[in-house]
Amino acid sequence: MRVAMLTGGGDCPGLNAVMRAIVRKGERRWGDEFIGFVDGWRGVLDGETVPLDVGTFRGTLPRGGTVLGSSRTNPAKTDDGIATCADTLERLGVDALVAIGGEDTLGVANELAAAGAPVVGVPKTIDNDLSATELTFGFDTAVQIATEAIDRLHTTAESHHRVMVVEVMGRHAGHIAVWAGIAGGATYTLIPEERFDVDAVCAALVQRHEMGRYASIVVVAEGAQPVEGSFHVARDEVDAFGHVRLGGIGNTLANEIEARTGYETRVTILGHVQRGGTPTAFDRVLATRFGVAAIDAVHDQRWGTMVALQAGEIVSVSLAEAVGTLKTVDPDLYDVARVFFAG
Ligand code: F6P
Repeated sequence: MRVAMLTGGGDCPGLNAVMRAIVRKGERRWGDEFIGFVDGWRGVLDGETVPLDVGTFRGTLPRGGTVLGSSRTNPAKTDDGIATCADTLERLGVDALVAIGGEDTLGVANELAAAGAPVVGVPKTIDNDLSATELTFGFDTAVQIATEAIDRLHTTAESHHRVMVVEVMGRHAGHIAVWAGIAGGATYTLIPEERFDVDAVCAALVQRHEMGRYASIVVVAEGAQPVEGSFHVARDEVDAFGHVRLGGIGNTLANEIEARTGYETRVTILGHVQRGGTPTAFDRVLATRFGVAAIDAVHDQRWGTMVALQAGEIVSVSLAEAVGTLKTVDPDLYDVARVFFAG
């Protein structure tokens, strides 16, 4: 078969590991031929491809990013975008397309599959907010990076008796924040799923500091929002998928905390550090399992499906189901984090 691949949306540690596994099993088991679309859906719209084989992926297992490049180009934004993508596949004689991405990339994959194209999806995002899979690769790496950062911030916070605000990624869901908050022993963790009351946060900090612990760590997901009317968070720039560019709640929150408590407060915005660099062993294994399952799905002609992790097994789910709703933080897990707030 002639199989094409693309990586779309924000990059993520483990993308190369997925493609390495797809190519390795496809080439060695079935004699498949591979091409890659450059920069996600942009490469499909423009028909820009590169040849791929086992040799392309030598040495890439521990490498972050994606050898194919990525973009947030959204073909569904234009009237004939999906039809253009379908034409490209036909013109290039592509028998199957494996789309590796998050909610946006897979949303387009779903539309393309609905239009009759032979598409299989692989879930990817450090945010871990895709439904139908218990985990996405990249998440474990991001949590590890955020936890290490929090560990380091504890010692400098304690030395200076400061509050440290740590802003982590998580646009609509606070999975990274909650996991890193629990793992790093945060004083408070704020997530997009639950609007926060800055007065309650400050009261918890005061309580903690009055108990003699003169340092605190507040983890805030970039998409967290205060309750109406407490303070303003600026958000204006929007990308091709209509997402507001976030990153800034940490600074605003730190100013509010310092003004309301009088405690010296500093901010660390982890940003894209969470997405760069080498994947953890866990993410390499998950990505490899997803890749092997994806090329199996191609050969079984399971079009319009996505590989997913459920109860420890790799399964196939419908793309439509996967992109229907976002997976948000389990309230029970947030309650576990809450046990450690203040104190
Ligand atoms: O990969 C998803 C994500 O990490 C979000 O959490 C974040 O809002 C977004 O990407 C930022 O991506 P970029 O700045 O690359 O557009």
